[in-house]
Amino acid sequence: MEELVRRIQEEGNVLSEGVLKVDRFITHQVDPKLMEQIGSRFAEVFSQKNITKVVTIESSGIAPAIYTAQSLATPMIFARKEKSLTMDEELLTSSVYSFTKQLASTISISRKFLNEQDHVLIVDDFLANGQAAKGLIELCQQAGAQVEGIGIVIEKSFQTGRQLLEDMDVPVVSLARIDSLKEGEVSFKQADA
Ligand code: G4P
Repeated sequence: MEELVRRIQEEGNVLSEGVLKVDRFITHQVDPKLMEQIGSRFAEVFSQKNITKVVTIESSGIAPAIYTAQSLATPMIFARKEKSLTMDEELLTSSVYSFTKQLASTISISRKFLNEQDHVLIVDDFLANGQAAKGLIELCQQAGAQVEGIGIVIEKSFQTGRQLLEDMDVPVVSLARIDSLKEGEVSFKQADA
């Protein structure tokens, strides 16, 4: 997605060889116009899949997921990282290991929001090692829902996430694919959409 690539080039900051900061328009301050375009693009790409729910994980996945859900006219569900006081029903849970933080956390979604009839599109802001997306796939599988695809805003292609998800037989569509962050420069490869 050309507009997204342009924004990363103009407003992204390379923090290290592994980390890109995009807090001016995606992860902290959010540009709703760009998010709307991102949501329409995912909706377009997955339009033939009869998606019934868009699923993400808090917090930065919520913005692209909500615009995607709006475009597809479906609900959006975000997995929680901390158990909420009001989550008193049966839960779908999965363990997510963060290589960045070097700790495992339990993510959850209320059982009542996903079922065997659902066709799910998972959306997230970053794909690094794929652990968050893998945890979301596991939650959907527990509910018997079909995961039709994963929409990623920024994929760091030099990390292992895409391979992990493709090995699980889930199609991945990334709107920006980053080949390397060496020497303070972002180098891109051909995006999927
Ligand atoms: P993984 O799920 O792909 O395995 O990712 P990893 O554990 O490596 O990443 C942990 C967190 O860091 C995730 O957010 C992820 O979105 C974010 N992240 C990974 N790489 C980058 C990067 O290059 N730049 C930025 N800005 N973020 C990155 P989180 O901490 O789980 O949550 P939140 O920030 O959405 O609340």
